[in-house]
Amino acid sequence: MKKIISISLLLIVPIFLFSQNKVWKSYSGDRIIEQKVDSVLSLMTVKEKIGQMSQFSANWSVTGPVMPDNFLPYLKKGLIGSIFNAVTVDGVREMQKIAVEKTRLGIPILFGYDVIHGYKTIFPIPLAEACSWDLDLMKQTARIAAEEATADGLSWTFAPMVDISRDPRWGRVMEGAGEDPFLGSQIAKARVEGFQGGKDWRSLKETNTILSCVKHFAAYGAAESGRDYNVAELSEHTLRNVYFPPYKTAIEAGAGTVMAAFNEVNGVPSTANYWLLTKVLREEWGFKGFVVTDYTGINELVPHGVAKDEKQAAMLALKAGNDMDMTGATYIKYLEGLFNEKKITEEQINVAVRRILEMKFLLGLFDDPYKYMDEDRSARTIRKPEFLETARKAVARSLVLLKNDKQLLPIEKNKHTKVALLGPMMKNSINLNGEWQGRGDRNKSVSIYKGLMDVYKNSNVKFDYAKGCEIDGFTSKSIDEAVKVAEKSDVLLVAVGEDFNWSGEAACRTNIQLPEGQQKLLKALKKTGKPIALLILSGRPLDISWEAQNIDAIVQVWFPGSQGGYGVADVVSGDYNPSGKLVMSFPRNVGQIPVYYNQKPTGRPVDLKNPTVDYKSRYIDASITSLFPFGYGLSYTTFSIKNLKLDTSVLRPNGRIVATVDVTNTGEREGEVVVQMYCRDLVGSTTRPIKELKGFQKINLKPQEKRQVQFVITPELLKYYGINHKKVIEPGDFKLWISQNSADTTNVADFSYKE
Ligand code: BGC
Repeated sequence: MKKIISISLLLIVPIFLFSQNKVWKSYSGDRIIEQKVDSVLSLMTVKEKIGQMSQFSANWSVTGPVMPDNFLPYLKKGLIGSIFNAVTVDGVREMQKIAVEKTRLGIPILFGYDVIHGYKTIFPIPLAEACSWDLDLMKQTARIAAEEATADGLSWTFAPMVDISRDPRWGRVMEGAGEDPFLGSQIAKARVEGFQGGKDWRSLKETNTILSCVKHFAAYGAAESGRDYNVAELSEHTLRNVYFPPYKTAIEAGAGTVMAAFNEVNGVPSTANYWLLTKVLREEWGFKGFVVTDYTGINELVPHGVAKDEKQAAMLALKAGNDMDMTGATYIKYLEGLFNEKKITEEQINVAVRRILEMKFLLGLFDDPYKYMDEDRSARTIRKPEFLETARKAVARSLVLLKNDKQLLPIEKNKHTKVALLGPMMKNSINLNGEWQGRGDRNKSVSIYKGLMDVYKNSNVKFDYAKGCEIDGFTSKSIDEAVKVAEKSDVLLVAVGEDFNWSGEAACRTNIQLPEGQQKLLKALKKTGKPIALLILSGRPLDISWEAQNIDAIVQVWFPGSQGGYGVADVVSGDYNPSGKLVMSFPRNVGQIPVYYNQKPTGRPVDLKNPTVDYKSRYIDASITSLFPFGYGLSYTTFSIKNLKLDTSVLRPNGRIVATVDVTNTGEREGEVVVQMYCRDLVGSTTRPIKELKGFQKINLKPQEKRQVQFVITPELLKYYGINHKKVIEPGDFKLWISQNSADTTNVADFSYKE
C-alpha cells in the first residue's frame, strides 16, 4: 500500500510540468484523469513504460504455445501491465501484491480472462444465445458474467467476439452472433453494455463491471476455407459493409479495448496493419481505448512473412497501433533497443502507456488495487440461484425448432406416453458447456436426461434409456440395444451431436455431418417406424440434410451451458414454447459453403421458381438455397403476418417511413414471434445484397391475439458504404419485406428514396 500512497501524492503535481501530448486523446475526456495519467507517466522509466505494454499469461489455462519466459521476474521488477489466465481471489491477490507492494512504482496489474459465455454460471454458447434475438437477455447474461468474474479477481474480459461468420467449417462460429451485420451489431452493443455496465466511462469504476475487449479486429471470421488463422481475402467494400459494423457499434457502445486479429486483411496481418488499427479504428471511428494483440500475434508476423525477425515485428506492431503485446514478450525484449536505435520514439511508447494507465484509473485500480478480491463477495455471488435461473431461461430461448411434423413436440406431461431417451448426448454432461467455458465445471452441468427427469417428475410420461452409440464410435450391439428400447416406446427422443472440442479455436472441420456411428443409429431407429424427435448439440450449423428429410422433429440445441438439461426439458415438455431463430443459415452440404441469406445478386440470378434454367448462377447437383435460412425457427403455435402498409412510399432526406403489419397468433398456445424487416436497395453505385435485415421485434402473443407492429425506416438505416467507401444513401427504389424469416416473401412493399 505504501507505494500507492506515494503515487497518489505525486498525482497532485501540476500538469504544466509535463509536456503536452498531441497524439493522445483520452477515452474519458476527463482532465483530472488525464492529469493523473500524465503524473504517473512522468515517474516512469522507458523500461517501466514498456513493461506496462506487456501482458503475460499465468498459464493456468492456455490457448496457444506457452511462452518460454517465466513472467515472475518481470512482475517483480514492475515490468508487467497485465496478466491473464490467473484465477481465484487468492491467486490474483498474490500477484497484485507483488506489483503494488514490491515494485518501485506499485502500478496495479490488470487481470484478464476469456469470459465468453459466462464465468462459473455458463450460458449457452454465444451463437446459441444470439438465436434468442433477445437483446435484454444477452445484456443480462453478460452482466452476470461480469458479476461473477469480478467477484473472482478479474477486471478485463476478452469479449465480445463480434466476428461475422458465414462459414460453419470455422470452429469459432460458436463464439459469435452469426452471419448478419445488423443483428451482430445490436448484439455486440448489448454485450458491451452488459459487461461494462453502460456507455458512461464512470460505470467502469463499479466493482461488478468488467472492461470489455472487442475482437478480433478485423474479419477473423472470414478465414478462407473455414480454416482458423487463415487469410481473410476481402474487398474493402465487403469489409466496410459486412465485417466492420459490429466492431464499430461495439466501440460506439463504449468498449474500452480492442483485440487485433491473427489474420491478414488486404495483404497485411491485422497486427501490423496501420490502416486498420490507426486509420480506420482511431482516425475514422474515434476509438480511444487501447488495443491488445491476440496471443503471440506479434511473433506471428515472422511466419506470416512481413517481418524478418521478432524485433522488426515488435516495431511494426507498435507503429501499426498495438498498445499491448499479449504473451509474445516481443515488446519487453525489443522496444527498448528499438528506442535506443531511434527506430521508434518515446512519444509512440507514451501514447500506448497513457491508454493503458487510463483504463487502470477508470477501473479504480489505483484507488484500490484489491477491489475485485473479496472472498465474501465471491462466495455470495458465484452461481447464485438467480443466475442459474437466468441461464435456464437463456437455454430455452436459444433453442431453435427446425422441424415438427405432426406436432410431435411437445411431449405433453399429462399424456400417457412411453418415451425412449437415446443417443450419446442424452446423459452427457461434460459437453454441454461447449468451448470457452470460462471457469465452468463440466461435471456440474445438468444433462438433458437429468433435466427431463426433473421436469417430468410428476407426469404421466414414462422413460426408458439406451445410449445407442458414442459421440464418435459405435458397436452393432449398442445400436441393437437402442433399437430394442425404441421398439417398446411410443416416441423416440434422441440426443446427438459434436464433441465440445470440435468447435472453438483451432477446431475446424471439413465434414460437418454427424459422425458415422450417430448416423447409423438414426438410420436403425428410423427403420422401427417410431416417430423421432432429434436434439442436436453442436457448436456450428451442421449438414443435416438427411435428418431434415427423414426425422419428424428437430431441435437445434447448440451447446446450452451449465443449466442445459433444464432448458431443453422446458422446451421438450412445452413449459416454454420455443422462439429461437437461426442467425446462421444451414447449408445443404459442405460444397455450398459459404451460404448466407444476404448474398449479392450476380448478373445471372436464378429464378427460384424455375431453378434449373441453364447458364444461371447455380449448381447442377444441388439447390442454391440453404436448408434452413437465416431468421428461421418454428414455434408450437403459428403466427400470421398480414396487411403490410407504409404511411408513405417516398422517403426524403430528413423524413421517415412507418411500416405497419398485423401479427396474429393463429394457434392454440401462447408464444413469441420475431417479426423481421428486410430491405433491398434495387440499384446502387455498387451491387447491393438481395436482402438485408433492417429491424426486428420479438413479441409475445396469446392464442388468437393480434397486434399491430411498427417499424420506422430512416435514410440513416438504409445507408451503406458505396463506390468511394463513403457512407451514402442513393436515390432510387427499394423493396421491403416484413416476415418470419429471411426466405419468407409474403409481405412485400415498394418505396423510393428521393432527395
Ligand atoms: C484467441 C483469443 C483469446 C486469446 C487469449 C487467442 O488464441 O484467439 O480470442 O482471447 O487467445 O486466450
